[in-house]
Amino acid sequence: MSLEIVPVPLDDEVLFSRWHATYVAANVHDVGRHHTCWTLPELRVAFEPNRARAHRAFAGIEGGEVIVSGYLGLPLLDNLESAGLEVSTKPSARRRGHATAMLAVLEEEARSRGRTRLDSEATFPYDAGTAGAGVPAVAFADRHGYLLGLSDVQRELRVPVAEDLLDALAAEAAPHHAAYPLRSFVGRVPDDVVASRLELANSLMTEAPTGEMELEVEAMDLEAFRESEATLHRQGRVAYRTLALAPDGSVAAYTDLVTTVHEPGRAYQWGTLVRRADRGHRLGLAVKVANHRLLQRERPDIDRVTTFNAEVNAHMIGVNDRLGFVPVARLGEFQKRLTGTAPT
Ligand SMILES: CC(C)(COP(=O)(O)OP(=O)(O)OC[C@H]1O[C@@H](n2cnc3c(N)ncnc32)[C@H](O)[C@@H]1OP(=O)(O)O)[C@@H](O)C(=O)NCCC(=O)NCCS
Repeated sequence: MSLEIVPVPLDDEVLFSRWHATYVAANVHDVGRHHTCWTLPELRVAFEPNRARAHRAFAGIEGGEVIVSGYLGLPLLDNLESAGLEVSTKPSARRRGHATAMLAVLEEEARSRGRTRLDSEATFPYDAGTAGAGVPAVAFADRHGYLLGLSDVQRELRVPVAEDLLDALAAEAAPHHAAYPLRSFVGRVPDDVVASRLELANSLMTEAPTGEMELEVEAMDLEAFRESEATLHRQGRVAYRTLALAPDGSVAAYTDLVTTVHEPGRAYQWGTLVRRADRGHRLGLAVKVANHRLLQRERPDIDRVTTFNAEVNAHMIGVNDRLGFVPVARLGEFQKRLTGTAPT
């Protein structure tokens, strides 16, 4: 039997859900309950045309079954020479060259769109160590010329965090950020702070540790940001957010926790960033503690929070350790430069 690789149209519900099932099966096989795959209804919404990113799915079919799933993401406002890609092979069909065949299609598709810097990620068990010894994805990446540019650790926190611990941490931070009031809210970022928060958030990719990864700052504009909030809402996701405001009213720090109706009981810690000029005021600790208070008040049904930190991000890991996060898995970030002439 030979493998046939086809694009997956968003309106082909059956093929899209089979493509998704293979992506999930591959990840569950490797990291069990710690997988962080997006759910099918969330991905359906994410794949709809939007200003910030184009998404493409490819299915590798053999004997009527999707045995390898491929994903290509194309940033549309920044990082225009890059593409994100992911390949997942059904556990029972591995080491038969299917991922290699899929990767060739994804790389050619990226190249044909003028993308020459390819980024990928893979989650693997914590015990495999920083270099991912014996991990299929790491061996696969190495074989195809992808360098491990950044090693992250996935951590989990059981919540609720004891109120007296939150009180103690907030009290410890408070004297250091007296000039920076905190503001917590659910959902849409208020109009008076959205531009300033967006400016700070656009620098997250380069202000957080990037290891050997080449990345450009993001250039999300207000329209794309509001669109992303609407997308989140339609996906069944809710953002719990805290900001620290500088004396001039601009956003000096932010943090976001996100829940989804499709994964009951779970929340994800998304970005946390303190503006470079405002560091040293314990704002990272302060916004995180306030945001956990908000989550616990609004969502007593949530019992675990998942986060990722670069292994070298000692400061953020220090904050997370104090809240009680523990390591559960690893995430490798890989990068490759395509050589040869890219068509225009
Ligand atoms: C990584 C993954 C996609 C590989 O799928 P696959 O179809 O088995 O890959 P291939 O058969 O094309 O492997 C190509 C080469 O990669 C290397 N490789 C792949 N899996 C390996 C393993 N378990 N151990 C050692 N080397 C491995 C080998 O060099 C292999 O060539 P060989 O079989 O001739 O020795 C698959 O294990 C998977 O789905 N993992 C979970 C999802 C994931 O992490 N994806 C990677 C992120 S994009």
